[in-house]
Amino acid sequence: MANLSKITCIEDLRRIARIKVPKMFYDYCDSGSWTESTYRSNESDFQKIKFRQRVAVNMEGRSLKTKMIGLDTAMPVAIAPTGLTGMQRADGEILAAKAAERFGVPFTLSTMSICSIEDIAAHTSAPFWFQLYVMRDKDFIERLIDRAKAANCSALMLTLDLQVLGQRHKDIKNGLSTPPKPTLMNLLNLATKPEWCWHMMQTKRRTFGNIVGHAKGVGDLSSLASWTAEQFDPALSWDDVEWIKKRWGGKLIIKGIMDKEDALRAADCGADSIVVSNHGGRQLDGAPSSISATPAIIEAIKNHGSPTEVWMDGGIRSGQDVLRAVALGAKGTLIGRSFLYGLGAYGQEGVTRALQIIANELDISMAFCGHTNINTVNKDILIMDK
Ligand code: GLV
Repeated sequence: MANLSKITCIEDLRRIARIKVPKMFYDYCDSGSWTESTYRSNESDFQKIKFRQRVAVNMEGRSLKTKMIGLDTAMPVAIAPTGLTGMQRADGEILAAKAAERFGVPFTLSTMSICSIEDIAAHTSAPFWFQLYVMRDKDFIERLIDRAKAANCSALMLTLDLQVLGQRHKDIKNGLSTPPKPTLMNLLNLATKPEWCWHMMQTKRRTFGNIVGHAKGVGDLSSLASWTAEQFDPALSWDDVEWIKKRWGGKLIIKGIMDKEDALRAADCGADSIVVSNHGGRQLDGAPSSISATPAIIEAIKNHGSPTEVWMDGGIRSGQDVLRAVALGAKGTLIGRSFLYGLGAYGQEGVTRALQIIANELDISMAFCGHTNINTVNKDILIMDK
């Protein structure tokens, strides 16, 4: 067991992940599209939101427990679906799902994961969520939905903002592939990552576990760009969303909403929740930060009288960021990079550490703002620009 007591913030985990994870996978996680302006503003816009400090308020008996789409969670945070998680660390999705289960927060498995739906079901007992991309092959989507049902997934998260892939320069320059191709540059870089190689040698899970052996006629799977271009359906419409909702029949989360009209459309489709998300700044560079887009969407859903919950993701690097999102009215948040850094740095323990750090920061900051229960937090704890 590593001694993680000196790991005090998500940035510590990021620095260690950068040392331990092969460059192409670290870069895949830690980059945005084109100029990365949206990727950067996702983080920096949080810093512009200031708290109102309150004193002489009884701070005993604090609780972060809440519900996301009716499901109990230890805090208003779920693990986001992230592609190639099992390349940050061998069996990464299994390790992260176990950490989430023990901590009591929901885990979401990506379509583009390395470990499969069945792998997660076999290694955990808490129901997890499955994230779906809409592909051209509708039979394959039906099979994925059936597999998620068979694995007892308690919600389907449909991502709508990646029918075409945003260009991330580093992935092209690094020749991103899974597993890495044995080029001289890759071999030189892997030689500096002995721990990663050691763990990877002990698993058979090194390519897209939900796809390989399940989808017909899939071509060059190792290249994300060619794979999405070949498989993902650019003709995706709201009719497809309705069809998927019906076919799934359970709780539906729609992710990738940045616009009020799309939010209302998603609510009208009967989504239980929408996630305000610009895909971590990895798709449309030049879009606003997720946190700045969140209030207008919450307002629109409220005025519409819809029971759809509004969550957000993108740029959360601390419990303070979670508190800011909740204060603005988000019922929940998703964390991607924050848990991936923990995973790359220390495996399952690192994901647990990331969750502990966020919970601790959230708890203490909530107390400073004069609240003892996360469910009573509202925008009164913020200093709003007039
Ligand atoms: C996939 O979700 C990606 O952003 O690469």
